[in-house]
Amino acid sequence: MQPIERWDYAGEGLDEHDLPAAPLPLVERWVQDAVTRQAAKGDVPEPDAISVATADAAGQPHVRTVLMRYLGPDGPGFYTNYTSRKGVDLQENPKVAAALTWPPMFRAIRFVGVAERMTPERSADYFGSRPYGSRIGAWASRQSQPSGSRADLEEAVAAYERMWPDTGSADDVPLPDFWGGYVVRCAEVEFWAGRSSRLHDRLVFLRTGDGDLADENAWRVERRQP
Ligand SMILES: Cc1cc2nc3c(=O)[nH]c(=O)nc-3n(C[C@H](O)[C@H](O)[C@H](O)COP(=O)(O)O)c2cc1C
Repeated sequence: MQPIERWDYAGEGLDEHDLPAAPLPLVERWVQDAVTRQAAKGDVPEPDAISVATADAAGQPHVRTVLMRYLGPDGPGFYTNYTSRKGVDLQENPKVAAALTWPPMFRAIRFVGVAERMTPERSADYFGSRPYGSRIGAWASRQSQPSGSRADLEEAVAAYERMWPDTGSADDVPLPDFWGGYVVRCAEVEFWAGRSSRLHDRLVFLRTGDGDLADENAWRVERRQP
């Protein structure tokens, strides 16, 4: 191990008075702040990278990073292969936890909830917006399955490219039926703001009834010790 470099988390902090009545506007603001910071300073690459934790049928957790390519009142969302490790886990146990982390900004957001598949129509809209190579890649990869070799993968890519050549159109490659989005219906959203001497601010929205991330009557806020 390298010698430890200790950072004082001199962040702006977060005060109860800064909170909206529902979490969505603050999630949007912090994501936008990260995007703006990346544009200005270049130290927050992939500002929408989100760690997603699932648990398999035996209770074993698995965590991986994906891209939060959707954010709306129904929750944060991401796209993936439904037969991947995470897809199989979510089939058996839809409970999920996820975290956006922006270390240079001393900020993180944690979500707890239940993952729900997006409709194929919604997934198809997003799929069509991806570059040709990513759409072919979705077909060529049986994500999370063992792979014989890199060459096997590249042969699969070439075969799908022959099947569906690049026409420059969004519908030249069909949506695989094993690929699509999940949205995380949240029961809890924590805003973590790092502060000096590890005395961070943690303000947690807890859902008190039915309602989405934009519903001002569906949440109460709890401050937690750092
Ligand atoms: C920055 C970053 C972004 C990623 N984005 C995605 C994504 O949007 N969707 C996805 O399925 N995998 C994405 N991956 C790959 C996943 O981390 C993971 O390897 C893959 O989804 C398989 O995970 P699983 O076997 O646990 O299902 C990304 C990885 C990184 C490091």
